[in-house]
Amino acid sequence: MKSKLTNRYTGLLDFQSRVVMSAMTRGFADANHCATDDMASYYEKRAKYGVGLILTEGIIIDSSADGYNDVPHLHTKEQMKSWKNVCEKVHNYNGKIYAQLWHCGRISHPDYCCGLPPISSTDKAAAGINRQNNKPYGLPKRLRISDMKDVYSLFLRSAKLALEAGFDGIELHMGHGYLVDQFFDLRVNDRDDEYGESVENRCRFALELLRYLIEYIDPKLIMIRISPSRFMGEIYEWHNLDGMLTFFLHQVQEMGIEQLDISCAQANYFDTSGKIVRKIRAQWKGLLISGASLSHEEALKEINDGWVDMVTWGRNLIANPDFVNKLASDEELIQFANEMRSSLN
Ligand SMILES: Cc1cc2nc3c(=O)[nH]c(=O)nc-3n(C[C@H](O)[C@H](O)[C@H](O)COP(=O)(O)O)c2cc1C
Repeated sequence: MKSKLTNRYTGLLDFQSRVVMSAMTRGFADANHCATDDMASYYEKRAKYGVGLILTEGIIIDSSADGYNDVPHLHTKEQMKSWKNVCEKVHNYNGKIYAQLWHCGRISHPDYCCGLPPISSTDKAAAGINRQNNKPYGLPKRLRISDMKDVYSLFLRSAKLALEAGFDGIELHMGHGYLVDQFFDLRVNDRDDEYGESVENRCRFALELLRYLIEYIDPKLIMIRISPSRFMGEIYEWHNLDGMLTFFLHQVQEMGIEQLDISCAQANYFDTSGKIVRKIRAQWKGLLISGASLSHEEALKEINDGWVDMVTWGRNLIANPDFVNKLASDEELIQFANEMRSSLN
């Protein structure tokens, strides 16, 4: 039986269901960081089985922004063309697809940034070992104010290429400890200039980036992903959480941005994002999406209670290309297992 989740939803766009595939890095791009035919089939299958909106794996906006093995990039015509194929396949099955644009900031190493140090809000390295190359994270260069515009322009170049490739929109990755989040996060952002300390200052980098983009791109085509409450060894919430949410979301809406994705990385939804959507629903007028491994019942309840408009799933959609069908018929799901990371199905 179809449910409100698997039925068509005419929100900002005409979505074939309220099921959203979360952005998930898979590491199967080719040597030129292009999307391959296998990647196109992987996304095509999810659209074919009824996913309403696909958020692609993180796509790196420039070689200086990378931090991972074999992830796709979007800064050349060749890379743009490779995604054209993906978009066409998804559209053939009535799916919508947004490109998730990604700058890793200090979650990287010179091995991934053409031998140069990664950039960040800080000049302190992230703790721990980068599992990508088994080396400590690289020592970042603190981004100078005079260099920030160059970073915004890298995002813009990628966003334009994404729209040229046929994506229905772009999602800016502003969460999970990557570059933009390195400005939000007071544990990382140790600046004493107008980009540090206060709520307004910690939001400034993200807001300037958005203002830069909407000079050239319709704000209605932009979704932002933030993770104000997420799990990273333990639950971490933005410092001055309520102040940050109120200020940031007000500014973003003033710009005409209407799409918001609340993420918690891989945490329990109700301990993290579920709490955030309850704080912000009254103030967020546009499309609000969130989720993390919710059951059919839980997801329906989040929608029926008005907390979110669409629900995101990640690992369930890796393990079950036909997830939407299974949801509609309450069929048992194949459980995600770590081995599934090593192939595309
Ligand atoms: C293999 C894998 C890769 C991921 N890569 C990304 C990514 O590129 N960008 C992103 O915003 N989130 C990424 N995430 C987080 C997911 O988008 C999602 O928020 C998280 O898995 C929680 O949802 P789930 O419990 O339904 O899997 C990734 C998660 C997994 C499991």
